Amino acid sequence: MKKNQDHQVDRIGDQLEGKTIALAITGGIAAIETPKIARHLRRYGATVNAYMTPSALKFVGRASLEWATERSVVVELSGLAEHICKEDMVVVAPATMNTINKIFNGVADNNVTSLVASALGSDIPVYLAPTMHESLYNNPFFKKNLSQAEEYGITLVEPRGGEGKAKMPLTETLVNEVIKYFGGEDGS
Ligand SMILES: Cc1cc2nc3c(=O)[nH]c(=O)nc-3n(C[C@H](O)[C@H](O)[C@H](O)COP(=O)(O)O)c2cc1C
Repeated sequence: MKKNQDHQVDRIGDQLEGKTIALAITGGIAAIETPKIARHLRRYGATVNAYMTPSALKFVGRASLEWATERSVVVELSGLAEHICKEDMVVVAPATMNTINKIFNGVADNNVTSLVASALGSDIPVYLAPTMHESLYNNPFFKKNLSQAEEYGITLVEPRGGEGKAKMPLTETLVNEVIKYFGGEDGS
């Protein structure tokens, strides 16, 4: 039987060949951009595993991520122990205020926060793309937590500004950050 070509992406580089990226999606409106991010990572050779919080599922469908990654999507923890990080990097995008504050308080109460907890305990790089209204971004508890990112080895991907929001970086910018971590020349 012929393989279904519907999921295929055109390769534009091999900088992420052999790398598996956990794309952890939380409940911000920018979650609608994540199928594109997953496919752009794949254009550089990455395998992408998507993890979605229950809130993320309000903004983007599981089927969209299954299609974009060509893999099953983790929406809850099961006997397969999805909370133990086995990927080469975790990218939380969008990263809500709620999830970020939980991460910095050591909370591991869902598939995304427990995945990050495991990654941090295994020296697996964790990238966060904070995305929210500026009133949340300026919240004092949140700002204090973010200021500790470097101390905990967490990398923040700077949001884009505009319209009173901390917005998701452009897909290309985010993917280039991942490529740079693995020592590749960026794809721009
Ligand atoms: C329409 C809508 C848009 C939202 N956008 C954001 C957002 O961009 N960033 C954010 O931090 N929270 C946002 N929230 C709030 C989160 O969904 C809420 O804090 C939720 O508990 C996050 O859960 P999670 O971190 O487990 O995914 C939004 C909520 C709604 C209803």
